[in-house]
Amino acid sequence: MALWYGGDYNPEQWPEPVWLEDVALMREAGVNLVSLGVFAWSRLEPAEGRYEFGWLDRVMDLLADGGVGVALATPTASPPPWFSLAHPDALPVTADGVRLTHGSRDTYCASAPAYRQAALRVAGELAQRYRDHPALRLWHVHNEYGTWCHCAHTATAFREWLRRRYGGLDELNDAWTTSFWSQYYSDWAQIQPPLATQYLSNPAQQLDFRRFTSDELLAAYCEQRDLLRTATPGTPVTTNFVLGGWVPVEHWSWSSEVDIVAIDHYPDRAGVAAAEQTAFAADLARGWAGGQPWLLLEQAPNLIYSAGRMLAKEPGQMTRHSLAHIARGSRGAMFFQWRQPVGGAERFHSAMLPHAGADSRIFRESAVLGRLLGELDDPGLVTEPVDIGARTAIVWDDQSWWALQSSGLPTAALRYLEPIQAVHRVLWRAGVPVDFVAPGAELGEYALVLVPSLYLVSDQVAASLTSYVDEGGQLVVWYFSGIADEAGRVRLGGYPGALRELLGVRVEEFLPLAEGEAAPLSTGEHGRDWSERLAVTTAQVVVSYATGLPAITRNHYSRGSAWYVSTWLDDLALARLLAEIAAVAGVAQEQAPPAGVEVVHRRVGSTGWSFVLNHSDAERAVAVRGVDAVDGSEITGLRAVPAGGYAIVRDEQPEL
Ligand code: GLA
Repeated sequence: MALWYGGDYNPEQWPEPVWLEDVALMREAGVNLVSLGVFAWSRLEPAEGRYEFGWLDRVMDLLADGGVGVALATPTASPPPWFSLAHPDALPVTADGVRLTHGSRDTYCASAPAYRQAALRVAGELAQRYRDHPALRLWHVHNEYGTWCHCAHTATAFREWLRRRYGGLDELNDAWTTSFWSQYYSDWAQIQPPLATQYLSNPAQQLDFRRFTSDELLAAYCEQRDLLRTATPGTPVTTNFVLGGWVPVEHWSWSSEVDIVAIDHYPDRAGVAAAEQTAFAADLARGWAGGQPWLLLEQAPNLIYSAGRMLAKEPGQMTRHSLAHIARGSRGAMFFQWRQPVGGAERFHSAMLPHAGADSRIFRESAVLGRLLGELDDPGLVTEPVDIGARTAIVWDDQSWWALQSSGLPTAALRYLEPIQAVHRVLWRAGVPVDFVAPGAELGEYALVLVPSLYLVSDQVAASLTSYVDEGGQLVVWYFSGIADEAGRVRLGGYPGALRELLGVRVEEFLPLAEGEAAPLSTGEHGRDWSERLAVTTAQVVVSYATGLPAITRNHYSRGSAWYVSTWLDDLALARLLAEIAAVAGVAQEQAPPAGVEVVHRRVGSTGWSFVLNHSDAERAVAVRGVDAVDGSEITGLRAVPAGGYAIVRDEQPEL
C-alpha cells in the first residue's frame, strides 16, 4: 500500500485532449490518486433525471489505464441551476431572512426534502455506475460540510431535534433560561432558528442551533455514506473536514462516522508560523482519527487565500508541509488542485500544474515530491496506528468554541482557537509531541493534560478530569474553563464552578484587562487580556500578580496535581511555564530542536522513522540515527539539513 499523492481533478473544465496530457503529467509527477467530480453535478445531471456519464466514464478509464486511482466525489456541495429554479425552497436563508441565489457554491438547505432526495439520487447513480470500476479507491462525499440555513424547513427540523434533545418544553425553557427577557416558550411552534434579533440573542439557542446544524449535516452525510457502503462494501467513504470558527461540525461525532478522517488544510500565515499551523492541524486530525492514519485531502501548492490577499508558499514549503502531515499520520498528501483553471472564482488559486504549464517550478517540485513519496515504501505508514510518542494531550471541544462565540461574554478577548494554538505552538517549539483528545476521553496514557478554553464542562467531563489527576496526572487548566454546564448556564458558588475543588481555587470576580493593558506578574512577565480576583483554597501559589493576588497556582490533589493559569501569557512566558510543568510531568525533551526545525519520530511496527523538517532560513544540524531514506547514507550522529530542506531517516533498531 502506497502513500496517496495527487489532487482535486476537474476534467469537466477542460476539453478532452487536455485529459490525455493530464494523465501523462500525473504519471510524470507520481500522482496515484485524484479527487474527481467534486463540483461536477451540473455536468453529470444537466437536467433533472438526465444523466451524462459518458465523459466521466472516459476520464475514469483513462485514469485507470494510467495507474491513477480515484477518490470519487458525490457532487452534492453544489446543486445545478435547474435544481435551484425547480426548488427555490431548497435555497438557504441567512439569519437576516435573505434567501440566497444560485451563482456560487454550497447553495442549498440540508433540511429541504428536495435537496436531500436529489443528493441521494445523484450519489446513487454514481455508486451504481462506478461500483466496480478499477480506478475507484475512495468515496469523497460532498465537500467541506459547513453550510448554514435558517428557512422554514430548517425551523421544522430544528424543533424536532430539540424535542429529541429535551423531551419537554419545560426542560428546554430551563436549559435556555427563557425566563430572561420574556422568552418563555409555551408551544414548540414558537421556536425559530436564531434569526436576526434586535439586541443580544439567546446564547443557548445559538449553541443548540450549531449542534442541530452539525447533526443535520451529519445525517445528510450518513445517508449518502450508507448508500455508498451498500454498493461498495470494500471501499472507504469519507468527507473532507475544514476547520474554522464558522463551521458547524462537531468533529468528534463526525469522525466516528467516516471510514477515514480527512482534512483540508490551508495555513494563513507564512514561514515557520505556517509550519506550526500545519503541525497543529495534523495533530488534531490524528486525534479525531483516534490515532489511526488519516488523510490530508487538500492543501495548496502555492498561492492561498489569506485575509483578502493571497499568500505565496516559498519553494520547498509544499514538500515540507506534505512531509509534516505524513509524519503525523496522514496516509498521503493531496492538493487542491491538479490543474489551475482559466476561469471561475478560484482561477488564481494555485495548482500542481499552474497556468505556466509543466515548465514551472511548482510542477517540478510536485514531481520531485511524488517520486519521494513513492520511495517511502513502508506499508505501515498507511495502515498502522500512528505512534509519535505523545504523552501530552490537549482537550479539543468544538462546542466550547461555539459557546465562546456567543454574545454577552465579559470581553471580546476571550477566544478559543488562539489559546489552544498557542499551547500547541509552544510545545512544538520545545519538541514535545502532543495528541488531541475529546472532553471526557480516557486519559490514562498521558502524563500531562492541557485544558485551555474549555468553557462548557459537564459533570461527566469534570469527573473524568478529576479521576485523571486522582490517578497521578498533571492537569493544566486555563481561565474561563469549567465556567458553564453543557447548556451554557453558569455554575454557581465561585468560578470555575465545575473544576473549583480539583484546582483548589475560587474566583469571585473576573477582572478582564483593557486592550493593551498588561498585568505585571511576580516573575517579571505580564498577563494580558484577562485576570481574576483569585483566591486559593487548597492550591499553592506559583506566580502572583503584582497586586499580590494569585495568578498561577498548583493544587496537589491525590496522586497528581492540577495547575491553574488565570491570565493570557505571551509565548515566552507560556514556554517557561510549560517547561516547568513538563519537567514535573516527565515529558520535557532533553533538547529542544533548533529554532524553526520540526522533528517527528514515528514508530511504525519495529521501524523508527525520523522526519526532520527545516522550516528556517539557515542550515541546522539535528541528532538522528539510521539510514537516510533518500540517499541511503548511514547516519549515526548529527545530520545537517539545509535551509528549507528535510531529512527522512529510517532506523530498523530504534531505541525503546
Ligand atoms: C476548500 C475547497 C476547495 C477550494 C479550496 C481553496 O478547501 O474544498 O474547493 O475552494 O478551499 O482554498
